[in-house]
Amino acid sequence: MLFKQQAWLRQKLLVLGSLAVGSLLYLVARVGSLDRLQPICPIEGRFGARSQAEFPLRALQFKRGLLHEFRKGNTSKEQVRLHDLVQQLPKAIIIGVRKGGTRALLEMLNLHPAVVKASQEIHFFDNDENYAKGIEWYRKKMPFSYPQQITIEKSPAYFITEEVPERIYKMNSSIKLLIIVREPTTRAISDYTQVLEGKERKNKTYYKFEKLAIDPNTCEVNTKYKAVRTSIYTKHLERWLKYFPIEQFHIVDGDRLITEPLPELQLVEKFLNLPPRISQYNLYFNATRGFYCLRFNVIFNKCLAGSKGRIHPEVDPSVVTKLRKFFHPFNQKFYQITGRTLNWP
Ligand code: A3P
Repeated sequence: MLFKQQAWLRQKLLVLGSLAVGSLLYLVARVGSLDRLQPICPIEGRFGARSQAEFPLRALQFKRGLLHEFRKGNTSKEQVRLHDLVQQLPKAIIIGVRKGGTRALLEMLNLHPAVVKASQEIHFFDNDENYAKGIEWYRKKMPFSYPQQITIEKSPAYFITEEVPERIYKMNSSIKLLIIVREPTTRAISDYTQVLEGKERKNKTYYKFEKLAIDPNTCEVNTKYKAVRTSIYTKHLERWLKYFPIEQFHIVDGDRLITEPLPELQLVEKFLNLPPRISQYNLYFNATRGFYCLRFNVIFNKCLAGSKGRIHPEVDPSVVTKLRKFFHPFNQKFYQITGRTLNWP
């Protein structure tokens, strides 16, 4: 009997102990996520009337978990009304470049309490069928957010698609445009690697990169190869500049975002007129992944999917040199137009 009572007592203590530890962890998580939010203004009114520096960030941070639930698609009309939620057109778009690190940039910006990301690539402006559905369709694709937050979407195909600049201009001529670039040859190889993986998944054979990137008849760089064309950044940017002044663009160094993400993110915060809230706390290097991962608080962190950060195939060094030489003058022009020098070879 005494033994039974002791066992019961032990069990009770175990349950109570787990509860105490759980509560403690929850509290630490809360405090952890608030610690990095320094002096913040109280909640009042709506965005619009006040400057962005006055974002009620603490309140937004508190509500993040709630928003996350809403994003799962369980939002009822009542919840939307009750929490004053809206689906807003993006105030900034990551327009490209494919394989530049667009996903990493979007996910990292989403660490900021005033930013809400559209999780999927919406392809509204580059896909005629989607575009024909109209701007309301596009807005309805946006996540729920608080009016004080800004929505950001990314669709890297926008950068290279002819019709997109004019279409975005028609939606909002003062929108902020983010372009994340990597050293052009590396980006082209990354692009090739993605396509190669797709072919292999379907058990299909595919050409070697060298065969696609170099024209076998002329032995010159094959400018008809899409992965090469996409890396001629200046050509695409020039089309955009017919609609938007250069001040509306911000260039993100995708190579630096890999090795040293924080300073790149801080430049973006500045460009978007957001108070600096992303800190080193939010980014930690994961040696297994070989990349920086995201930390929202002591409990919730995540790395990007395995499809980001593939191992590239080895490419003939003479082809790499040829490509680098080819891109060089275009890169110089790109630095000159954008005012950002990236020290590419
Ligand atoms: P690789 O797969 O060539 O390494 P995008 O999202 O535009 O498709 O870009 C993919 C690239 O993002 C990857 O290219 C990878 O190098 C880069 N990247 C940048 N930061 C990353 C991170 N923290 N985790 C994973 N990949 C990251």
